[in-house]
Amino acid sequence: MSDKELLAHPSSGNGTGTMHVIGGTASTALAERVSRELGNAPFGIPFVKRFPDGEMYLRVGGRLEGEDVVLVQSTRTDEDLLELLLLEDAARQAGVRRLFVVVPYFGYARQDRAFFPGEPVSALTLARHVALDADAVVTVDLHSPPTLKGFGKPAFEASGVPAIARLLRERPVDLLVSPDRGGVDRVKRMAQLLDKPWMAFEKKRIDSEHVELAPPTNLPIDLGGKHVVIVDDVISTGGTIVEAAKLLQKQGVGAIAAACTHGLFLRDAFERIKAVSDELYSTDTLGNPAEKASVAPDIAQILQRDCAAL
Ligand code: R5P
Repeated sequence: MSDKELLAHPSSGNGTGTMHVIGGTASTALAERVSRELGNAPFGIPFVKRFPDGEMYLRVGGRLEGEDVVLVQSTRTDEDLLELLLLEDAARQAGVRRLFVVVPYFGYARQDRAFFPGEPVSALTLARHVALDADAVVTVDLHSPPTLKGFGKPAFEASGVPAIARLLRERPVDLLVSPDRGGVDRVKRMAQLLDKPWMAFEKKRIDSEHVELAPPTNLPIDLGGKHVVIVDDVISTGGTIVEAAKLLQKQGVGAIAAACTHGLFLRDAFERIKAVSDELYSTDTLGNPAEKASVAPDIAQILQRDCAAL
């Protein structure tokens, strides 16, 4: 077991007022960035292994008694979720003062209601369980904002928009596009930060992998030769971005970039999108090849401004 697996920077314990950051297996790199944003807060990763029967074992190190601890773990897979729940209990067993749980990508968020009789409301039941041992929860671009209330504890949502905007400021952008009306607030906020025009397509979902898109009747600018960025919260199968890019190509745009907060890039989504666009950007809520913007400053701001004040 390496030192980092225990805690990279030994702490004094018993309430120094510093936040300690622990990065779960799914979010190690982002957690380390958050610790740097918190002024080089003590950072560590847990020791995780499997028992012969496949059950998970983990251990957190360092002197955490009486300290404020930040756990960072996206829950893209069921294993990630289990690790998060075990980490929370490990932190509690270690006698932490306050436990702030950061779930950058909160899995199951899209099942935010029972669409058919007999279904669970997965987002809400997982929110309750994740919040059980937490004093506060922080997440990023939750699929449906009402889920925030489902945590039943102080819960805060960072946005991926500022991180992507920081990146786009360095690149040519003439127009921002949301592939659906549901993303209007997001694209408007991005447009405001970059001082650029925006528009939204109309989207009709055919099934989980296919969508139909239509442009608005009034285009805000002549698209010929323009640099257009499609902005979405999640890229999953890539179907939405591919259709949006094809529509833009028909309008004669000069260059297409796609940007998202959560890059799941299932199966060949990455290659399919690259085939119809020039650039692909995502934040670091999930590790992926397009991870070029970090939400660490935005998470750290919430931890310092909102969580520390609880
Ligand atoms: C839908 O409401 C979301 O904003 C995304 O557009 C959607 O999840 C993307 O999925 P996919 O990449 O599978 O088209």
